[in-house]
Amino acid sequence: MKIIVCDNHHEASKYVAEIFIKQVQNKPNSVLGLATGSTPIEMYYYLIKDHKLNNTSYRDVITINLDEYVKLEASNSQSYHYFMEKHLFSGIDINKSNTFIPDGTGDINANIKAYNDLLENINIDIQLLGIGRNCHIGFNEPDDEFQIGTHLVNLKQSTIDDNARLFFDGDYSLVPKQAITVGVKAIMSAKQIILLATGKQKAQAISNFLNSQINPQFPASILHAHNNVVLVLDKGAASLIGKDSYDYTE
Ligand code: F6R
Repeated sequence: MKIIVCDNHHEASKYVAEIFIKQVQNKPNSVLGLATGSTPIEMYYYLIKDHKLNNTSYRDVITINLDEYVKLEASNSQSYHYFMEKHLFSGIDINKSNTFIPDGTGDINANIKAYNDLLENINIDIQLLGIGRNCHIGFNEPDDEFQIGTHLVNLKQSTIDDNARLFFDGDYSLVPKQAITVGVKAIMSAKQIILLATGKQKAQAISNFLNSQINPQFPASILHAHNNVVLVLDKGAASLIGKDSYDYTE
């Protein structure tokens, strides 16, 4: 695993944006696996900025998102459908019919099957991940075993707390307790994985999964089994890891 440590969140966001921009420039019909949450917002801003300045085109790009809350309509301002439209899709020339996000409304089982069918027929070139304080990736929460496919998940209390703090104006009653998320198979099938984590609040999670064997209680530890993972951190998120044990660039 390659670890890049940037000075701060802005530099880390720029670094990851550059990787995605090069990917799209080199392969205009790339399949991008995308994440939501507070971490990638600035990185998406840099993609939009580059699109406007340099005309990098997303016309032939396909995007596959990791997850969506259950029972939030796409029009709900806290849904991940809304998030993607606001923070990325509305600012680039992507064809909306090439963007895929699990549907958390209506018949959940049918939606899960539809997403699994989609994933069976698509190869993700590059997957963006964030990480939860409990080491979740996507919404693969700590569990006794890894969930392979797309599934319905009961969010852990720490995830609900973080989501309430960062979004939903702190109103717990509005924070969904369940989500649909891709499983580890879709994430691990990506040709390359970029995990972006910034801030001291992520330092323990980074240290926990790097120092763990593959263990479903630390879901991000599955990344040890992938041969092309780049961890892009800021100094805060990297503050608990030893420089000696990894391919570490500062
Ligand atoms: C969201 C997702 C989650 C987030 C994680 C970190 O699509 O997959 O794993 O990446 O919860 O969220 P933030 O960035 O808000 O700290």
